[in-house]
Amino acid sequence: MIDTRSQTSMTSSDAFHDFEHAGWERAAKFYGDAFGALTAQTAEPTLDAVNASGGTRLLDVACGPGFIAGAAAARGALVTGLDFAAAMVAQARQRLPALTFREGDAEALPFEAGTFDAVVMNFGLLHLARPDAALAEAHRVLRPGGRYAFTVWSEQAVAFRLALRAIEEHGNAKVPLPEGPAFFRFSDPAETARTLAGIGFSDIEVRELPIAWRPPSADAVFDALLRGGVRTAAVLRGQTPEALAAIRDAIHRGLEAYGRDEGLNIPMPAVLASATRLG
Ligand SMILES: C[S@@+](CC[C@H](N)C(=O)[O-])C[C@H]1O[C@@H](n2cnc3c(N)ncnc32)[C@H](O)[C@@H]1O
Repeated sequence: MIDTRSQTSMTSSDAFHDFEHAGWERAAKFYGDAFGALTAQTAEPTLDAVNASGGTRLLDVACGPGFIAGAAAARGALVTGLDFAAAMVAQARQRLPALTFREGDAEALPFEAGTFDAVVMNFGLLHLARPDAALAEAHRVLRPGGRYAFTVWSEQAVAFRLALRAIEEHGNAKVPLPEGPAFFRFSDPAETARTLAGIGFSDIEVRELPIAWRPPSADAVFDALLRGGVRTAAVLRGQTPEALAAIRDAIHRGLEAYGRDEGLNIPMPAVLASATRLG
């Protein structure tokens, strides 16, 4: 990606954006296997929320390997997927060669105003340096009457809670990282509704999706956290080997309450927000 900013005008948002970008380029080859079976579960409710059907011009922002894009195409929607990580776009093109995927930034969408009937973002917003800019961009590229939906993790998503607690209790939770927006900001329905209304969206609805993760083993959960994402992965990689082993053991112990190996069933509730662009 071409960086048009001068060195001297680099802000903390820029630093976080670049940190996330580099992280997703690295995580792309692990992400689908690590989290795909989990994040793809929100595809149908998200597509229902934007009334995706045959002929709907739909943009999947921060599409990753294209789980939502693929499900939308199966409904007959006319799909474009967009992601800022070239390695993610490559994964999506490989999985779904018949669909259109392009590199681009959620915070500055490369589309004319009013291009789409529906815009979706599945677990992308919580990774953005400037989520408000991305919401405003989604509003801009929707036609009047177009529908928007995004998902984020609930604060009750067990695997993240266990990981954060294990890091606090057994490691260093203050690994220096570029400062980013609060991971759970949009998990709060009131904050989400207020923000979407401020941008000009109407018919705002926020609800919880009670999805669950059934990974093949507790190790698969730890590996997903270590390799398949960015922020938590960076904190884990910043630990000493001893602390990392203690964190892994604590996560394993915490997961015992949710079954063993192939029987694991981990509550990972998500929050689905949807809205309409009126004018
Ligand atoms: C957790 S993954 C979600 C992938 C996919 N939507 C899914 O359903 O699994 C987050 C994705 O957001 C992308 N992303 C993060 N910041 C972005 C930005 N500013 N613009 C476009 N994509 C971004 C990452 O490259 C990554 O593919």
